Amino acid sequence: MNDFIAGIPKAELHLHIEGTLEPELLLTLAERNKIQLPYKSESDVKKAYQFADLQSFLDIYYQGASVLIEEQDFYDLTWAYLCKAHQENLQHVEIFFDPQTHTSRDIKFEVVINGITAALKQAEKQYHISSCLILCFLRHLPEAEAFNTLNQALFYKDQIIAVGLDSSEKGNPPEKFVNVFEQARKAGFLTVAHAGEEGPADYIWQALNLLKVSRIDHGIRCDEDKSLMKKLATDQVPLTLCPLSNVKLRVFNTMAEHNFKKLLDANLCVTVNSDDPAYFGGYITANMQAIATSFNLNKQHIYQLTKNAFNASFAGEERKQVLLQSLHDYMSLHC
Ligand code: HPA
Ligand code: ZN
Repeated sequence: MNDFIAGIPKAELHLHIEGTLEPELLLTLAERNKIQLPYKSESDVKKAYQFADLQSFLDIYYQGASVLIEEQDFYDLTWAYLCKAHQENLQHVEIFFDPQTHTSRDIKFEVVINGITAALKQAEKQYHISSCLILCFLRHLPEAEAFNTLNQALFYKDQIIAVGLDSSEKGNPPEKFVNVFEQARKAGFLTVAHAGEEGPADYIWQALNLLKVSRIDHGIRCDEDKSLMKKLATDQVPLTLCPLSNVKLRVFNTMAEHNFKKLLDANLCVTVNSDDPAYFGGYITANMQAIATSFNLNKQHIYQLTKNAFNASFAGEERKQVLLQSLHDYMSLHC
């Protein structure tokens, strides 16, 4: 089963590029850019990656992002992820980036996006990995700052497919960003939002009804509301689940307690993703293998998860057909 999962063509829909910063590159960039960090070695860094909840992770994650200064740093970060993606047979990736984490340190928006997109282009050429970029607003900051970020993004409209919402969820509901999301949709961006990770099911309703999202990121707390479960199943709203993240951030104490199987069995359109793999102990293959082991999944389940991800992606229709065909070819060979 582990080999079957490793080999199947995959898509990733929930991946924060800043969350792919491995300890080795973190220390290299800290030295290159003369940034002081409270770590001397990779093992010091790994020891610090013990989290009690989302906020305790975010504090460490924003500190890590402080080593990213030059366009080359953003390129190196993204390229390192894409090499991993290629090894794991990812055919399509949708990448979140958090411009405010960088512009607040006086790093120019163009430095961030140029570094990331140069690596994405290289991966398309060298590895035939297609990609989309999703700009996330930091929800712990005011909506006015999200508007500033949106205004900068308009110059890069052709490189950004959607806007999303991340960072500290509790106390920062989707309704706080209703105006900036409306403006983003008017400008032609699709929308997604983290909702129901730590926040209540009502935040998922808000993301759907007020922000008009195409997908819900995480969304695990939907099972607290029966009518929401029904809506998600009827409309086949994709959920981008991140199992290792949820256990590492103590949303669930163990993988066995995760509600993944409950959501799958309720006929929701679930997908499996890695969120911040450098911090949570595994990329997409490890996430799929972890749930396959915990829930005794078979090849048909893995096929369904992968098909859901291809269908839920923002790839164009033609590319989607190519992705689905590669999946069917793989299944014919291996089943
Ligand atoms: N949740 C919210 N914000 C984030 C996350 C997450 O899992 N990762 C990076 N920013
Ligand atoms: Zn996330």
